[in-house]
Amino acid sequence: PEECGLKCSIMESLNNYLFKYKGYVFAKGETTGEYIDSLQHFEIRDSDVFLVTYPKSGTIWTQNIINLICEDTTDKSKFPNNLEKMPWLEYREGRPDYSLRASPRLFATHLTPTLMPPGLRDKRGKLSIKIVYVLRNPKDNAVSYYHFSLVWAKLEKPKSFEDFLQQYLAGNVGGSSWFDHVQEWYTKRDQYSILFLSYEDMVMDLRTAVEKICKFLEKNLDDAAIAHIVEKATFKNMKKDPRANYEFIPGDLLLKPQFMRKGTVGDWKNTFTVAQNEMFDQIFKERMKNIPLHFIWDLD
Ligand code: A3P
Repeated sequence: PEECGLKCSIMESLNNYLFKYKGYVFAKGETTGEYIDSLQHFEIRDSDVFLVTYPKSGTIWTQNIINLICEDTTDKSKFPNNLEKMPWLEYREGRPDYSLRASPRLFATHLTPTLMPPGLRDKRGKLSIKIVYVLRNPKDNAVSYYHFSLVWAKLEKPKSFEDFLQQYLAGNVGGSSWFDHVQEWYTKRDQYSILFLSYEDMVMDLRTAVEKICKFLEKNLDDAAIAHIVEKATFKNMKKDPRANYEFIPGDLLLKPQFMRKGTVGDWKNTFTVAQNEMFDQIFKERMKNIPLHFIWDLD
């Protein structure tokens, strides 16, 4: 834990790459327990918008959509890319204090409800702060995360998919357990103003997803504006868009410019063995038995 200083003494080091703080797993060097604690005093504004995901669920895709929906034609030059326009709440990465930002502020986060600023749910007793939660079928999520671990310098390179899957199922990955993340947000949904979307629904019908987000954010866009956003948010077009495709991340952090990898539903079938699939189904059934969420596992 030397690299994160004295404060790390209250963090549990899981390995060279990960630490646990208050039950949640973070990548080392990206944030600190002290900063996470400071979010308990983070001043929320009614106009704030939060995008919440478990990692590898379509965060940068939805980030692009929300940024486009909230685009103010006067501020185009202010932020060089989507990350700067909608930064992660839990990482400051040298940016000025977020309290200095003009409204409306947009944030992405992988945090669970307990680590989020309390003002999100109890501000003047109103559920006015908007949260968009995107979830993805966990088999594809695990495959996407596996490939990401191979190219993100701050993560341990898994020896094999089997090796990664064991860590993923144990929650020993940044973001902790997919099951806990989804359950915590889903069971606490009544305490927030929250829109649940699935990656699979977005792949099947992007226009409807964009319309749902617009309605939720109370943005009244005309047909042409919606069509423009849908066009800009397709996998093919986003991959070419330097503001959105994350190829702006320096090469020492992102070893291959591969944030946007395949963008499909059902890739797990190319990776999971029959035994892995059976084991996963069993764990899924057990862990999700009280959550009435149904996933499209493939689109064939
Ligand atoms: P794959 O690795 O399966 O291709 P996150 O942004 O949360 O890290 O999620 C990354 C996943 O979202 C990657 O999945 C990436 O390809 C996919 N993705 C990003 N933009 C997309 C788009 N416009 N359409 C479909 N999938 C997209």
